[in-house]
Amino acid sequence: MERTFLMVKPDGVQRNLVGEIVSRFERKGFQLVGAKLMHVSRELAEQHYAEHKERPFFGELVSFITSSPVFAMVWEGEDVIATARKMMGTTNPAEAAPGTIRGDYGVEMSRNIIHGSDSPESAKREIALFFSEDEALTYDKAVNQWVY
Ligand code: TYD
Ligand code: MG
Repeated sequence: MERTFLMVKPDGVQRNLVGEIVSRFERKGFQLVGAKLMHVSRELAEQHYAEHKERPFFGELVSFITSSPVFAMVWEGEDVIATARKMMGTTNPAEAAPGTIRGDYGVEMSRNIIHGSDSPESAKREIALFFSEDEALTYDKAVNQWVY
């Protein structure tokens, strides 16, 4: 089953949107398999965003992501990487469609609430950067036992 790395950025945590964001992916039908509130070190931020190292916004991006805790998550499900990106909306919240996370809650490009892996290769790399193997679980949902 496919896995992706999603992260509520410092603005989302500060604005109390963690529950709302988790809820959207739960209700969609995806399974949460790892999660933690954590501070991102400068080193981790630079590794995570290495592809943007030469871009003019890199310094601001690293400062922002290390400024306050993030809520890092691993989600599992059918085509979860692409579907989560659709649910997040386009990078610039000002252009993101209403109904998407960025479209509903964001205004500025530099504070766009959520990160999501953009490919199977990024997902693998980012999950390994943020989670140790025993922090991302594998478990069955015991639906018939818990839902009446
Ligand atoms: P990117 O990987 O292009 O977007 P996404 O998060 O949708 O995969 O860029 C990473 C982050 O960098 C993005 O979420 C916000 C920030 N960013 C800027 O601040 N300015 C920019 O012009 C771009 C393209 C991104
Ligand atoms: Mg990206």
